[in-house]
Amino acid sequence: MFTYKLGSLFAGIGGIDLGFLKAGVSTAWANEIDTYCAKTFKSNHSNTNLIVGDICNLNAKDLENIDILAGGFPCQPFSIAGYRKGFEDDRGNLFFQIIRLLKEFKNENRLPKVVFLENVKNLYNHNNGETFKLVREELKELGYHVTEKIINTCEYGNIPQNRERLYIVGFLDEDCFNSFKWPTKTPLTNTLDKIVDWDSDVDKKYYYTESTKCYPLLAENIKNNRSIYQFRRVYIRENKSGVCPTLTANMGMGGHNVPLIKDSKERIRKLTPRECLLLQGFPKDFIIPKDLCDSRVYKQAGNSVSVEVIYRIAKEIVRVLNEKC
Ligand SMILES: C[S@@+](CC[C@H](N)C(=O)[O-])C[C@H]1O[C@@H](n2cnc3c(N)ncnc32)[C@H](O)[C@@H]1O
Repeated sequence: MFTYKLGSLFAGIGGIDLGFLKAGVSTAWANEIDTYCAKTFKSNHSNTNLIVGDICNLNAKDLENIDILAGGFPCQPFSIAGYRKGFEDDRGNLFFQIIRLLKEFKNENRLPKVVFLENVKNLYNHNNGETFKLVREELKELGYHVTEKIINTCEYGNIPQNRERLYIVGFLDEDCFNSFKWPTKTPLTNTLDKIVDWDSDVDKKYYYTESTKCYPLLAENIKNNRSIYQFRRVYIRENKSGVCPTLTANMGMGGHNVPLIKDSKERIRKLTPRECLLLQGFPKDFIIPKDLCDSRVYKQAGNSVSVEVIYRIAKEIVRVLNEKC
């Protein structure tokens, strides 16, 4: 039996849901607009009530009671690579849909005890900190005591991916808030060698051959066997710290940004979508729907979260709720 229930907004493929599930929290309902994400979500969370559609059409009155509301709201407007438009961008405004739903819950006297949000780290400093100040104020006005931390997956999640993200936790109860502690750093024992298969053959579509236009550039730059490289528009960058560079949603667009390796047989290839999911901490048996093309899965993996980081935060939220609320 699960004691606490999660409402999952911008659920994607359910990375946040998986982290919370591991901590003993079941998802009562989830919402996602993208039908391809929905397909992956449903294949892996068949018992969850997934509402496929625009968050703007959700009404709290139709939603089951929850203890925790979670959402990694669309982050593009806040990333360095994005357009730096913050809340003036339509996608940025989706944050206010979270606030709208919370207000509706409040009007019905069933505000969730906890809010958990995730975003790119640049949200924190965007517009000289004004954007994040607004996030804080909106949550505070609803009654939440808010704390936030920028966490790197390779330092806190024991997953070899460099991924700095902003995590925000709000508690209605002040004692809970005071008791909550962010996870501490953990040694990285789960190395690239445990995730990337340097030796076996993978499907031939992932290899670059001499007939590929960019092959000379790749061959010239991709020299080491146990490093991960990334094609950055016009140049190739090696990650020298033994981790994978941040997986991004634009891996789904024409293969750019998909991390590259030279395997033990000196062949250059992309990481497979499965390897990308493993680099986010998804379990080996996570189902990739058969009829989903690779570009969709790369995008879904890049857009998702590091499950282990979510799990560590979720576990602490559960501890606090058990002890204090
Ligand atoms: C950063 S991703 C979150 C991914 C998710 N945390 C996961 O584990 O896969 C943001 C998600 O919000 C969804 N989204 C964007 N606009 C939306 C809207 N208007 N209503 C509902 N979902 C939306 C996108 O399709 C995308 O899957």
